[in-house]
Amino acid sequence: MIRFRHLRSSSEIRDQSAEVSLDVNQLIMPVFIVEGESQRNEIPSMKDVFHFSIDEATRQIEINLKKGLRKYLLFGVVDNSLKDNLGTVAYQHKGLISRAIRELKNNFGSEIIIFSDVCLCGYTNHGHCGLISGNTIDNDSTLPLIASMALEHALAGADFVAPSAMMDGQVGAIRNAFIENGLGKMRIMAYSAKYASAFYGPFRDAVDSAPAFGDRKTYQLDYRTIKQGIEEAGADISEGADWVMVKPAHTYLDMIRQIKSNFSNSTLAAYHVSGEYMLLKLAASIGMVDELQAFQEVTTAIKRAGADYIITYYAEKLADSINKN
Ligand code: PBG
Repeated sequence: MIRFRHLRSSSEIRDQSAEVSLDVNQLIMPVFIVEGESQRNEIPSMKDVFHFSIDEATRQIEINLKKGLRKYLLFGVVDNSLKDNLGTVAYQHKGLISRAIRELKNNFGSEIIIFSDVCLCGYTNHGHCGLISGNTIDNDSTLPLIASMALEHALAGADFVAPSAMMDGQVGAIRNAFIENGLGKMRIMAYSAKYASAFYGPFRDAVDSAPAFGDRKTYQLDYRTIKQGIEEAGADISEGADWVMVKPAHTYLDMIRQIKSNFSNSTLAAYHVSGEYMLLKLAASIGMVDELQAFQEVTTAIKRAGADYIITYYAEKLADSINKN
């Protein structure tokens, strides 16, 4: 008989035997930014997640920096009246996210690491991530717009841009734009293996970006594919991505492991998305699971699968629990 239980007999021995642990440095917190002042409004579809005006986001981040939480992924949420079919406000000079980046960097400098989501869906009146041509989403005409959005964020001082539109060649287009503008060293975290998922529902309510017609299946990955996810990551790395990502995370642990194994020298992020977050929040709200324990377990599983960084709406509470230990 092998005595496995010897290594489980006390919390000290279990801690010593642990192979995976969470680190505050590996957490990235998504932040939804709205126009205005003193705005801090809970998002109806996402418990304990807020729409922040820039000043309130600044206040919250100041608190979070004391917990060691330094990495933030910014999303812009604009009024429907500002959206058009080209997503113009996404890449206009001094747009919402560019102003947010400038202000946060002015306040916190290199204390904070800013990732900015680069995609048109929150800014187009049709809610698609690219331009419409007939009844399709046109790939190539979208690329220059995505590149100029990324460039605006880079000029504002973002540390990483995070292209999430799933247009072919988007990382290369951004990398070229950076090189042409003397920003060749600018970092890119590519949403590489981003699957068309039912678990983005609460997020789309949060940024009001549900597609007005059709779905995202002609550009985001089909969840019945494995090879395509690996190939997307490889393409993004060769086009100049510094980090790649798998998304969703909890339901795609196998893809995290596969991409980590295939590109072991690359840095891999995984996004525990809004629907996955809400499953746990709702289960906890009716007493089905202990909330903190459930998030600790799932987030650790994402790390164990091979993620170097985890984007999570639960970052603040995880940071608190890590700091307590
Ligand atoms: C934008 C984008 C989406 C998410 C991140 N960036 C939504 C989508 O592709 O429809 C989803 C994040 C989440 O669900 O938490 N393209």
